[in-house]
Amino acid sequence: MDPKAVKSDLVLILDFGSQYTHLITRRIRALSVFSLCISGTSPLSSITSLNPKVVILSGGPHSVHSDDSPSFPDGFVDWALSNGVFVLGICYGLQLIVQRLGGEVRVGQKQEYGRMEIEVVKSCGIFAGKKVGDKQVVWMSHGDEAARLPDGFEVVATSLQGAVAAVEDRKRKFYGLQYHPEVTHSPEGMETLRYFLFEVCGVNAGWKMEDVMDEEIKVINNTLAPDDHVICALSGGVDSTVAATLVHKAIGDRLHCVFVDNGLLRYKERERVMETFESDLHLPVTCVDASDQFLSKLKGVVDPEMKRKIIGKEFICIFDAFAQELEQKLGKKPAFLVQGTLYPDVIESCPPPGSGRTHSHTIKSHHNVGGLPKDMKLKLIEPLKLLFKDEVRQLGKILKVPEPFLKRHPFPGPGLAVRVLGDVTEGNALDIVRQVDEIFIQSIKDAGIYDSIWQAFAVFLPVKSVGVQGDQRTHSYVVTLRAVTSQDGMTADWYCFESSFLKDVSQKICNNVRGVNRVTLDITSKPPSTIEWE
Ligand code: XMP
Repeated sequence: MDPKAVKSDLVLILDFGSQYTHLITRRIRALSVFSLCISGTSPLSSITSLNPKVVILSGGPHSVHSDDSPSFPDGFVDWALSNGVFVLGICYGLQLIVQRLGGEVRVGQKQEYGRMEIEVVKSCGIFAGKKVGDKQVVWMSHGDEAARLPDGFEVVATSLQGAVAAVEDRKRKFYGLQYHPEVTHSPEGMETLRYFLFEVCGVNAGWKMEDVMDEEIKVINNTLAPDDHVICALSGGVDSTVAATLVHKAIGDRLHCVFVDNGLLRYKERERVMETFESDLHLPVTCVDASDQFLSKLKGVVDPEMKRKIIGKEFICIFDAFAQELEQKLGKKPAFLVQGTLYPDVIESCPPPGSGRTHSHTIKSHHNVGGLPKDMKLKLIEPLKLLFKDEVRQLGKILKVPEPFLKRHPFPGPGLAVRVLGDVTEGNALDIVRQVDEIFIQSIKDAGIYDSIWQAFAVFLPVKSVGVQGDQRTHSYVVTLRAVTSQDGMTADWYCFESSFLKDVSQKICNNVRGVNRVTLDITSKPPSTIEWE
């Protein structure tokens, strides 16, 4: 998508490494204003070419006094001044403004972390809607503080300890908040951001998913020649489905999708997703049944990494064969590949300065499909690469992807291979885990709690224990149930079920799944555990 085609003004975030930077971007988009985030040390041309109306300098873990502290490029201030661009520094961003415009930042006498009260001392600019003496709770996180302001700046709010909380130079359109307005611990922070963008900067809103869709379709049509063909591997997840549906809307049946049944899918998964692809979305999909191929390669393999590698490699073989068959059918090579890369993947591939993460321009390949052949020389179409997950769901809704599908829990590319411990081909382990998982997920849906859980599933343990069923001693398998809450899967908490729910689900499993006589519940968070078991 071409950012310049968006109807909204652009608010550009320069990222100096704060853990909250993405949150600022999302909060601003929630106000229907288009926002992008790039590294704080990007060259001036990267900033000016985007033509932002407002630039926000994010917080960060640095001190402006350290030698390697990151800063905006030379010429930034002159460019902002001569183009009437509004600049807002948040936390470290404020200190950068103060230092680079000729003021002084010193190591604070009292460091301020956590919830603090601040008081408005001037009713103007960012606080023009407030009265002098108005107080609010905000989230502070800083050691350094502004000791002397550059000429033209004044303090408009202070902390109750007397430190500078907000500054501004209205004439030059430079503003600074020492606290984080974007976090929920600053209850009035969103209103402050809203006031700043609309009342102070006069930003035009107009970031609408309908426009994003129209613009994407235009870009796809401009990128492709009229006889170019495109392929897409569907995983059954939200991102690849929404990406494919969008491309299909743009180019119709010049899109060719493939869905691979690797024998490691959940109960009736293939039938269910194929039904959605075909009946609801009318996508042209070839379903390849490669269960035998995958399972024969996995026979005897117990190492989780090895399982992942084998599955990834097999997938590439199948994808390759699909592309070749298509080439024969069409009489020409497909030219493009659709991937469901999201904005967090893009940002992650260009980590902010000082984050300790290495810089890389290669965008992570969409791991749900386990990587694709590098030598196929396909050009990429990544229509979701400026969107966050919740925005992809909004777009999916507009594209009429059924709502329950958009709310599906994540599912790992290697499928049940990482939910059956040890050899997946041993006995009827896959069968057992499928049945247990189906009962568990259906019970969760019946209890109306599916959307409150980030991911839930069953795991097969290759251990037998003694039980008694129908007056008979049994020696059967143990399964475990896992359900977590999470924001992004990086950290997770186990979900706390009602005991009546657990009693019911355990009874259903033991009564209906042959070969299981013990049901356990995983009550570990991540860390120390991962979400999947292998
Ligand atoms: P872990 O288990 O690493 O999982 O805490 C975090 C999230 O990633 C998913 N996951 C995977 N997804 N290929 C994938 O496509 C994988 O190999 C893989 N391993 C874990 C997992 O389901 C969870 O949502």
